Amino acid sequence: MSLRQDTSQSSPLRMPEVLEIEWAHGTLMPPPSTMAALEKAADLLRCGRLVAIPTETVYGIAAVANDSDAVERIFVAKGRPAHNPLIVHVADIEGARVLSRRWSDRAEILATHFWPGPLTLVVDRNETLPLNVTAGGSTVAIRCPDQSLTRLLIEMVGQPLAAPSANRSTELSPTCAKHVVEGLGGLVDLILDAGPCQRGIESTVIDTTSDPPFILRPGPIGQSELSQALGVMVDIRLITDVIQPMIQRSPGTGLRHYAPRARVELTVNPSSRLAELLAMGFRVGWLTLSEPSHEQLGTITVLHMPDDPVEFAKVLYDRMHQADECGVDVLLVDRPPEFIEWIAIHDRLARASFSDQTKGFENSSRTSHR
Ligand code: TXA
Ligand code: MG
Repeated sequence: MSLRQDTSQSSPLRMPEVLEIEWAHGTLMPPPSTMAALEKAADLLRCGRLVAIPTETVYGIAAVANDSDAVERIFVAKGRPAHNPLIVHVADIEGARVLSRRWSDRAEILATHFWPGPLTLVVDRNETLPLNVTAGGSTVAIRCPDQSLTRLLIEMVGQPLAAPSANRSTELSPTCAKHVVEGLGGLVDLILDAGPCQRGIESTVIDTTSDPPFILRPGPIGQSELSQALGVMVDIRLITDVIQPMIQRSPGTGLRHYAPRARVELTVNPSSRLAELLAMGFRVGWLTLSEPSHEQLGTITVLHMPDDPVEFAKVLYDRMHQADECGVDVLLVDRPPEFIEWIAIHDRLARASFSDQTKGFENSSRTSHR
């Protein structure tokens, strides 16, 4: 079909088509314009093309998971290394069972408790999935998003969708359609715009094949909720346990992620650091939980953050995108409270600031560091 051949059009400079979709609460069907947009998206996907889809966490860049050529196109569009596997999105638990060679009781319990929702289950993979989806591994990550229009799209396509976050590798995840346009441009064929994402950070990823189950990426569903549902204590590795040895062994490798173009610095003493950075000539942004003084307001880009972890997560990436739009060089971030509810936020902030911590930037004047 002609759609499949037409990949020469994919270019970061081309503007992708953006179609708004909605489903009013309490109505049986989405409006005709939304159905038409979903049909168009389904056609493109069936023809091996890439479509950006909304989820409750962040926007994803989707391809039919059983189409290895289309999946390969995701890796190219994102600049993602082939060794980093993708999440496969399904419309319901049944869709997940068929992707798994051995759907365990634990997977069933977690899916029943938390789906549709921001939880990704790593399970043993079914041999029929293309190898590039799982980066050659024996497991597959699956999730059922809490976005009814995206689940409807999966049903219309009739196949599961592989979909990593719709950003270039290591950059910020998109939480609205505009972020996808800015980050990927015409590398994606169509963007379905359902407005801002409800959660704002990526799903929790849990490996159900290890004993005890292991949280690979903290996210909206916490360790205690997972442990309670399973009746066993699930394990988690904190980002600080990973980063500290990495900094010592191999500075700058692999861990920088979820990062804006501005250099991110976590701080417990923003006032003195602000003064230092301004004296060095940097354009400074400040993600702050507190009220800035009047003098500060004139000289820096202040971006207020809510003091509740769920609300903080919802706006975090959007604020970082805003800092980039304002041309900020250095983004100071107030270190959030050290409570368990903040663990996913600490993970994302530690990664966003990771490579910069190793640069010895403190005494340099403003240079091109982007
Ligand atoms: O909220 C989300 O999870 C979003 C939306 C679009 O669903 N997706 C997302 O995908 O964040 P991505 O590709 O940006 O992150 C997926 C994470 C990566 O850290 C990847 O290494 C891990 O899941 N992952 C995928 N498959 C895996 C597997 N089989 N075993 C272990 N980790 C896996
Ligand atoms: Mg990602």
